[in-house]
Amino acid sequence: MSEVLVRLEKVTKVYRLGEVEVPALRGVDLAVERGHSLALMGRSGSGKSTLLHILGLLDRATTGRVLWDGQDVTGFRADRLAELRGRHIGFVFQTFNLVPTLTAWENVELPLVFLGVPGRERRGRAQAILEQLGLGQRLRHGPHQLSGGEQQRVAIARALAPNPDLILADEPTGNLDSASGQEILKLLSDLHRQGRTLVMVTHDAEAAQIAERVLRLRDGMIAEGAP
Ligand SMILES: Nc1ncnc2c1ncn2[C@@H]1O[C@H](COP(=O)(O)OP(=O)(O)OP(=O)(O)O)[C@@H](O)[C@H]1O
Ligand SMILES: [Mg+2]
Repeated sequence: MSEVLVRLEKVTKVYRLGEVEVPALRGVDLAVERGHSLALMGRSGSGKSTLLHILGLLDRATTGRVLWDGQDVTGFRADRLAELRGRHIGFVFQTFNLVPTLTAWENVELPLVFLGVPGRERRGRAQAILEQLGLGQRLRHGPHQLSGGEQQRVAIARALAPNPDLILADEPTGNLDSASGQEILKLLSDLHRQGRTLVMVTHDAEAAQIAERVLRLRDGMIAEGAP
């Protein structure tokens, strides 16, 4: 086990839209240590989501290296990256991204289906996590029957189901009223205190305070607070 859970070395990202090249990251060096928490801030378009997606092995760097738990995964095939992601990384998005036709319970089970966890165990684990997050009375509700804050808690339960090492959250409170936002921040900071590694993108300086370290991106580069 490496002290550094995920490390980016000189990472760049250029999106190509036909003839046009959009540079989103211009050489980012970043080490996310196991058990630490980090907030990413910066203007719209500064590259925060792009950086989060590369940290989470959801997208590839254009140049540079990505090391997961000490291992260079830059050239890994898509299926090996998906496997690492499925076991070790949980994502939480601003828009919750729950499957609208499934219940809360089934949404939380879903990542465990992909990991091949048998049905009974899957249902038990999903239920236990939902109960821990205060949603024991909402197991059979669909996303449209839940408030925004409840939907985000289901999304966090889903992210937690595989027992991941790393939680990545992209503006997790961006679509919530301030009371529900506070609840979600409390939940994320509790998870971090229980030992999970957390990287959260936020526009809100107050939200960023739950993290041990705050990094600011500017035009695809880390602007301050760099190690
Ligand atoms: N799939 C894509 N194709 C082309 N360009 C993209 C794509 N995704 C992002 N970009 C561009 O890359 C740059 C960084 O985008 P990114 O989404 O990482 O910013 P962000 O900091 O998360 O912004 P926001 O705060 O608005 O979410 C922007 O200029 C954006 O237009
Ligand atoms: Mg973004």
